[in-house]
Amino acid sequence: PSLGVVLVAAGNGERLGAGVPKAFVELDGRSLLEHGIRTILALEHPGQLVVVVPRARAAEALAVSHGLGAGQTRWRVSVVSGGRERHESVRFGLGALHDSVDTVLVHDAARPLAPAELFERVIAEVHRTGDSVIPALPVSDTLKQVDDAGVVHETVDRSSLVAVQTPQGFPRETLVAAHETAQLQEDEPGAQAPPTDDGEVVQRAGGTVRTVSGEMRAHKLTAPHDLLLLEALLAAEAA
Ligand code: C5P
Repeated sequence: PSLGVVLVAAGNGERLGAGVPKAFVELDGRSLLEHGIRTILALEHPGQLVVVVPRARAAEALAVSHGLGAGQTRWRVSVVSGGRERHESVRFGLGALHDSVDTVLVHDAARPLAPAELFERVIAEVHRTGDSVIPALPVSDTLKQVDDAGVVHETVDRSSLVAVQTPQGFPRETLVAAHETAQLQEDEPGAQAPPTDDGEVVQRAGGTVRTVSGEMRAHKLTAPHDLLLLEALLAAEAA
């Protein structure tokens, strides 16, 4: 069996306001993209890595993977340009996979410290079940449903809720078919809001999506304070 990893790094990161695309923000002297590529190139299962970046950053992304010694590993690295929305970037990434790939992971570059164990856990569960697999953590805050004016309607029972992360893993055919279905539905009247993760794409297409335990270290950089948290996690790892 052969692994493909689609690393999506083509968002503009507006909510972060760093002035560069989010994946190119630095954490401990290295871009988020570099942190992610480094972890992936060290995985036990070598395969194909497809890095999806803003068009103007393609050469830089290739140079980063080269600098990390991709040429000396059994990984093949491809770089493609992203789309307007995350799901479009994933679709472009899937389009660059070699025929031999049968299991696909999709990972956000914005989760630079997601550890190798998490990648391996997701891959193992995809292989064991043949289903789609996403990492999830329990939610700790109390959750409320509010209206547009911010008035509370009800408290949501959090015991059955989880917060999900990446890498998310899929049998290749399941994910490719689900993205094709989503693309057809996009143009229909009354279409749903764009999916924000691939688990949702598969689920909308009727597939079974399972969860495995997520990792604090897979935290996503969204707002400036997330950078502080990631720096602290990195410092704790080094200690
Ligand atoms: O913006 P958000 O945090 O949801 O983005 C999650 C991941 O998806 C990031 O790694 C970002 O670079 C990627 N993305 C993308 N193409 C887009 C939007 C987001 O590759 N058009």
